[in-house]
Amino acid sequence: MSTEPEKLHISYNHVHKLCQEAAEGIRANGKPDVIVAIGGGGFIPARILRSFIKHKGEKNIPIQAIGLSLYESYGDDDVEQIGKEVIRTQWLDMGALAEHFDSLIGKNILIVDEVDDSRTTLHYALSELEKDVREVQEKLGRTSEKTTFSIFVLHNKNKPKRASLPEAMFAEGRYHAAKTVPDAWIAYPWDQMDIDAHTQKATEQGFI
Ligand code: G4P
Ligand code: MG
Repeated sequence: MSTEPEKLHISYNHVHKLCQEAAEGIRANGKPDVIVAIGGGGFIPARILRSFIKHKGEKNIPIQAIGLSLYESYGDDDVEQIGKEVIRTQWLDMGALAEHFDSLIGKNILIVDEVDDSRTTLHYALSELEKDVREVQEKLGRTSEKTTFSIFVLHNKNKPKRASLPEAMFAEGRYHAAKTVPDAWIAYPWDQMDIDAHTQKATEQGFI
């Protein structure tokens, strides 16, 4: 018998429902003014989530995309130092945002990704976005305005993380994981070649 942990098969319906269930909790903590989706995994959840966060009659929440890619980096001489480094492949245009959206200063910004695995990507995204907004605030002399970052992921893997997020994010309820799951591989619907077989497995596992 195999000791391999079973993959978690997640259907599109399940993704939809996870976003739906999380939306009011996210809103309760301050309605996001802008969503920053981390591509590619964050795109589909971000778009679904937007529909549930928005109440009738309200304006659509803009979704901005950032592209982050992880690659293996090697320490100078020690294989033990193998780590993962994050590369920005796409980033926000702060100038254009300032022109058309009164910048991100003083806004509630929700960062969305599909999975919090090692936390490397989320740590990078949050710290770089905070740094960029702080720079613009300083440049414009608007440092007294409070810009608030929150995070949403479909799944947080319960495992030791390689990078951290500020304690305040958790304490203030600004970290939202629709589900916390064991450290197993999650099969998302958008990766599947045979969506019917996948959905069948998701149904059997109850992730429908
Ligand atoms: P992390 O920073 O979010 O923790 O990601 P990590 O370095 O551990 O993982 C690297 C890539 O592997 C990421 O994709 C992440 O989304 C993906 N990944 C991690 N665990 C799972 C899983 O259980 N299932 C699936 N399907 N993917 C997983 P990426 O480089 O950001 O690619 P993409 O967003 O363009 O798809
Ligand atoms: Mg990703």
